[in-house]
Amino acid sequence: MKLCMIGTGYVGLVSGVCFSDLGNDVICVDKDLKKIEDLKKGIIPIYEPGLEELVIKNYKNKRLTFSNNLKESIKKSDVIFICVGTPTKKGGSSADLTQIYNAAKEIASSINKFKIIITKSTVPVTTGDEIEKIISKKVSKNKFSVVSNPEFLREGEAIRDFTYPDRIVVGTHEKKSNQIMKNLYSPLISKGASYVHTSRRAAELIKYAANAFLATKITFINEIANLCEQTGINVEDVSIGIGLDKRIGGRFLRAGPAYGGSCFPKDTKAITSTADKFKTNLSVIKSVIKSNEKRSILLLNRVNKILQKKIKNKKILFLGVTFKANTDDMRDSSSLSMIPALSKKGALISYYDPTGEKKEFKKVKNVKFEKDFKSAIRESDLTIVHTEWNDFKSINFKLLLNRKKLTVYDMRNIYSPNKMRKQGVRYFGIGR
Ligand SMILES: NC(=O)c1ccc[n+]([C@@H]2O[C@H](COP(=O)([O-])OP(=O)(O)OC[C@H]3O[C@@H](n4cnc5c(N)ncnc54)[C@H](O)[C@@H]3O)[C@@H](O)[C@H]2O)c1
Repeated sequence: MKLCMIGTGYVGLVSGVCFSDLGNDVICVDKDLKKIEDLKKGIIPIYEPGLEELVIKNYKNKRLTFSNNLKESIKKSDVIFICVGTPTKKGGSSADLTQIYNAAKEIASSINKFKIIITKSTVPVTTGDEIEKIISKKVSKNKFSVVSNPEFLREGEAIRDFTYPDRIVVGTHEKKSNQIMKNLYSPLISKGASYVHTSRRAAELIKYAANAFLATKITFINEIANLCEQTGINVEDVSIGIGLDKRIGGRFLRAGPAYGGSCFPKDTKAITSTADKFKTNLSVIKSVIKSNEKRSILLLNRVNKILQKKIKNKKILFLGVTFKANTDDMRDSSSLSMIPALSKKGALISYYDPTGEKKEFKKVKNVKFEKDFKSAIRESDLTIVHTEWNDFKSINFKLLLNRKKLTVYDMRNIYSPNKMRKQGVRYFGIGR
């Protein structure tokens, strides 16, 4: 099939590349000229394990192309995926759909034959209806079909998630569109992915409900971890003890910092805002948002306690600043609130991240990037493990000890408290 991906970000690029690897002809379009020029040279704009090889392979065999020319790309394609951003509206909580509606207008002015237009972006219920209205102002309704096909891939595992999804959700009332979507995904269905055919509005809601549920699970275990800290219990034992119950499941039950990233914070806000619009109160999700927003303050209070209320001039090292491992995505990472708050209190912050220096901290006072995290640990008064990169899991702290005792606040519980204490480290974890 001939596919066009509008938006070559985390979702558009990964799914475009994977679709081309399945044998389709894919044009990945972006309005960011530099991104497209770089991709043509084999320079990948994001950090995603395995992506570079797949881009180069499919670009070389000409099934994958990159373009800035949206009109031409739409004309050449039968299936158009909208993969643009849907961030939170400035000063509000609903989703900003400007990029979606702009893409819809551009599609409307380029339709030359029947097209299936698919929202892969996460969009609030009824967005598909709006897109249909926008396009039908210019094009007769029998020349296009608007389908919802939300994406569930996780950054850091994106290629595996795309290739082996638990389910593929397709929302459309039209038989023909459903058949085309089924054909497109048939290589994944034959490998075991469930194909869920539903209404367009239900597909839109499924994506938000899934993210809100996962955010709730994380927030739930984070609050249980708070109770564990007060009662001398190891939260890891509680996670195992409840997670083995098949009705609950063990995933997303790791206590840690506030959830962040490009999806959970904005999607939990957007679903409550949609519910408010339809006069329904999603009180559980609202309290999840509040609890998560307070979490960084809670962890900073613990830092204050660990440093015996003497933060000023203390050397604090952050290991990892992205919202999770195996991605360079800084969107809504909890480090973005914790590092400036500590710097305001006079701490001397340094940080190391395997994906390099971050522009977000360039203007924050007393914050520097470290290239060598092992010698930075030696120099620090407190090392905070913020992101669970594998690089940090095998650090031999015993070898790094110098005259003073090392203090480690392991916000991801990646070390064994006993082993750390045996190595002579003053160790603090989350919920234990
Ligand atoms: N990042 C994830 O892990 C993830 C997972 C599932 C779903 N989603 C959803 O997918 C959508 C995209 O997310 P993302 O992280 O890939 O965003 P992103 O910001 O990384 O990429 C969006 C891209 O779209 C481009 N763009 C915007 N308008 C355009 C236009 N009119 N023409 C051409 N290009 C245009 C931008 O330049 C940008 O490169 C969002 O709705 C998000 O919620 C994201």
